Amino acid sequence: MSTSRRGAFIVIEGLDRSGKSTQADVMLDRLNASGISAKLMKFPDRTTAIGQMINAYLQSKADLDDHVIHLLFAANRWELASTITQTLESGTHVLCDRYSFSGIAFSASKSALKHKEAIPTPSSSDIPYTNPNLSYIWCRDPERGLPAPDLTLFLDISPEAASARGGYGEERYEKAEMQARVREVFGQIGNEMLSHNQNEDRSEPTKDGAQPRWVVIDAGNDKTTVSKDMWAHVEPLIAGVDSPIGRLWY
Ligand code: TMP
Ligand code: MG
Repeated sequence: MSTSRRGAFIVIEGLDRSGKSTQADVMLDRLNASGISAKLMKFPDRTTAIGQMINAYLQSKADLDDHVIHLLFAANRWELASTITQTLESGTHVLCDRYSFSGIAFSASKSALKHKEAIPTPSSSDIPYTNPNLSYIWCRDPERGLPAPDLTLFLDISPEAASARGGYGEERYEKAEMQARVREVFGQIGNEMLSHNQNEDRSEPTKDGAQPRWVVIDAGNDKTTVSKDMWAHVEPLIAGVDSPIGRLWY
């Protein structure tokens, strides 16, 4: 890639058991085999001090207030934000297994589950700190300003098909009812991302292949088909990106 171009920031999102990690590995191998420099990252990154607190929580070895665990997930991204930025600026692509969208989807749906309410939606009546639940807006705010992905591939699968892939594991959140809620919030995030794209002036980045930043991939298909579908969206980015790194929700 030419020296003026930076790496592309590509995020893979989806429910538990949607095939994210498998597909991230396939994509990394494909890029590396073509001599393209790419780094794989994953959130939560359980190796840091914050990541270890998250790990203990997910394994039910520690209990934390819902707000606290939400902020720890966000802090785990902030502590690695400069690594993402530096990697992209050095011309290396970053593939990321989960990101801020998981952060919002899981916390917002947990709140909705706990309070047996409709999923909170963004609206003018959603005033921070007067809503005791983890509203959509409250959940999104700590993510504002993080490096924005150039492309998010959302691996969509029904919770039924996901659980048929060997059943859920032992970790918190790996339950059918929760996953169904999470999928709904992911749908809402996708709509928000797509409408943002339409409002934006995309005339500049077209030379980088102005694809929508949020793409839904049918993850119920076989592994090879899913890889192929994902690659079609990644390929236009492998020559690098001209535009500066964006920031989430600005
Ligand atoms: P993992 O299975 O990809 O390691 O993710 C662990 C769980 O944490 C998974 O159920 C999704 C959830 N999660 C959040 O609740 N918030 C976040 O910000 C992230 C990245 C994951
Ligand atoms: Mg998991």
